[in-house]
Amino acid sequence: MLQNSTVVNATDYRAAMGQLLVLYTQVDHLIMEICAERIATAPDTAAKLALAKQTGDESRHVSIQNTWMEKFGVDATPLITAEQQAMIRAHFRDLPWLEFLADLYLCVEALGSEAVEKIVPLADPGTRESLRVPLSDELDHVAFGVTRLKQELATLPAQQRRAFVACIPDRIEALTEVFHGFDLGVPTLFTAVGADYRRLCEQLDLRQDELLDELVA
Ligand SMILES: [Fe+2]
Ligand SMILES: [Fe+2]
Repeated sequence: MLQNSTVVNATDYRAAMGQLLVLYTQVDHLIMEICAERIATAPDTAAKLALAKQTGDESRHVSIQNTWMEKFGVDATPLITAEQQAMIRAHFRDLPWLEFLADLYLCVEALGSEAVEKIVPLADPGTRESLRVPLSDELDHVAFGVTRLKQELATLPAQQRRAFVACIPDRIEALTEVFHGFDLGVPTLFTAVGADYRRLCEQLDLRQDELLDELVA
C-alpha cells in the first residue's frame, strides 16, 4: 500500500494536491513544447506524426488541468521557474534522437506518469477525474517511446546497444537529481496528500527495472 498511516489534514491535502497539479501541468506544458520543437528534426514520418499527436495530447492535458485547477481553487503560481524551464528545454533540444527517447519517454513520461498514477487512489473525485484522460494518453506516449527506442537499439551493434542500455540508469539518476535540485518540496507534497514517499520511490525503482527489462527483451 502506498497510503501513509498518518491522517491527512484536509487543508494541507488541498494545498498540496493543488501544488502537485500545478507541477504536473507545468511538466505537460514543457513536454508539449519539447515535442513540438522535435517534430522538424525527427528522423522519419512515423516519428514526426507521433510527436505531433503527442503535442496535441499534451495541449489537451494542460487545458483539462487548467480548467480543473480553477474549479479546485488552486494557487496556480508556477513552481518551476522560467529559468528552470529554459534549462529543461535546452537539455532536450541538444539531445541526439536516442538519448531524447530515453530521457523523455523512460524518465519523464514513464516514471513521471507512474508517480501521478500512484496519487490517483489518494485523490478526491474531481482531481481523479481530471487525471483520467491525461493518464490514459500517457500510456500511449510511453508505448511509442519504448517501442521506438527498442527499434532504434535493434539497429545498433550488440556492444553499442548494451553500452547504451547500461547508461540509462545514470541518465535517469542525473535527470532526477536536476529535478530534486529545483527544490520544489515534492516529498512534502506527496506526504501531505497521504502518500508514503519512500514507498513511492521504491515503486519507481521497480518500474525503472521493468522498463529496462522491456528494452532488452
Ligand atoms: Fe501529459
Ligand atoms: Fe505525455
